[in-house]
Amino acid sequence: MEEKHIKTLEYLGFNIRRQDLTNDYWKRRAAEALALTTQDRDVYGCLDHTTGEGLRVFDIEGTEYLDVTGGVAVRAFGLRYKPFLDFEASLIDVINELPGQDFDAIPQTLLAERVAAITPGDHKKRVMFTTSGGRAVEGCMKSAMDLSGRRRFVAFRPAFHGRTGYALSLTSSNSRHKSGFPQGVDVVRVPYPYCYRCPCGTDEEDCSLECVEALRYALEVEGNDIAATVMEPLCGEGGLIVPPAKAVKGIYELSKEVGAYFMSDEVQAGMGRTGKWCAIEYHGVVPDYISMGKAIGGGYPMGASIGPAPMYTGASRHSETFSAEPKMSLLSLWIFKHMEDGNFLRKNKENGEYLLGLLGELKDKYEVVGDVRGLGLMIGVELVKDKKTREKNRKLRDAVVKNAVQKQHLWVLGAGQNVIRFTPSYTITRENIEDAVGRVDKAISEEI
Ligand SMILES: Cc1ncc(COP(=O)(O)O)c(C=O)c1O
Repeated sequence: MEEKHIKTLEYLGFNIRRQDLTNDYWKRRAAEALALTTQDRDVYGCLDHTTGEGLRVFDIEGTEYLDVTGGVAVRAFGLRYKPFLDFEASLIDVINELPGQDFDAIPQTLLAERVAAITPGDHKKRVMFTTSGGRAVEGCMKSAMDLSGRRRFVAFRPAFHGRTGYALSLTSSNSRHKSGFPQGVDVVRVPYPYCYRCPCGTDEEDCSLECVEALRYALEVEGNDIAATVMEPLCGEGGLIVPPAKAVKGIYELSKEVGAYFMSDEVQAGMGRTGKWCAIEYHGVVPDYISMGKAIGGGYPMGASIGPAPMYTGASRHSETFSAEPKMSLLSLWIFKHMEDGNFLRKNKENGEYLLGLLGELKDKYEVVGDVRGLGLMIGVELVKDKKTREKNRKLRDAVVKNAVQKQHLWVLGAGQNVIRFTPSYTITRENIEDAVGRVDKAISEEI
């Protein structure tokens, strides 16, 4: 860390000694000060907030990592993307202290129009901005209840929609998120269409959409007064599961049959990550509601709930203080523009296919790599005990992730119980992809 950054901390009243710039020291301090972390401090170092660019991140001791997490799908263009920083610097005179939901300002309206234009469907939409993905989900849920007069939802297992209130009710990807907390809304829970481990026990060739039938049965025996079916178009936290389009379509049609709205949670898979603005476009259905988050804010906390007009039955039915402040809105609009100017939808699709292909070679090479799947730059590698039993190999996954981070210096995350997750920034190059796959290959070979 350069002296000037230490001076900044000094100016703010902290005396930081050079000899204390170690991972262990700052992880100990973080553990004492912070209520929680979602990741294992035994695996990851303390990140240097002053160094790094693109897909290169550094820990506080100066170790460089190749980042394939994209900040869990947040950093569309990587760290300190020069064109983005230049645009941000040009906004120095913009007033940011205008929280959005009480009074109008031009940037938020333009952003709402933009978001409505890139999301599927020509119907009239409304957009509400939030400060997180979970709140974006909840904005849609509340609206669906408001408009339908119904209170219950269909959600899947596994699924991740956030860890607060109503969103947590839909989530089921890890008991740690849920146990001990009350269920905020009633949920009819059905299995996510997960062909590698078909919850209905069929294989892809014999599939006659038993998962859609499982939903039909659930609605028949539990009641079909559903406000909305809430689905990730590509299950992220739950293990990077790509559902077959015909299953999503079947679930969508069944939801319509019972008068429920259909909502696509695009918080992780949206914003062009998969090669389409919204991953639900791969499945050929037009959702009534869409939640967006993560990359839409360019690193600032932002989410969006998109719904049918009128989205609420009246003004003030829902709101939060902060919402797409002018600077954040302009930055978000820049991301949309740059995505188009730079052809990032096409690039993400092509680079994703390249990454998928190289990771697929690991499946041929190792008995423990059971499945490799994904759409665009959202890919999972599922580790198993062996290909025949497909038994989940969580222990190996954890060991491979730890090895990849600590020995190969690949900044990578797990997902689900036994999956390695790739959600890199959109600026990833072919060279980065080959490098990243080489590092995972080495980590697997050292851990089996
Ligand atoms: C699909 C999905 N929905 C909702 C959320 C919650 O977003 P946030 O953590 O910003 O509340 C996430 C976060 O990972 C997500 O992946």
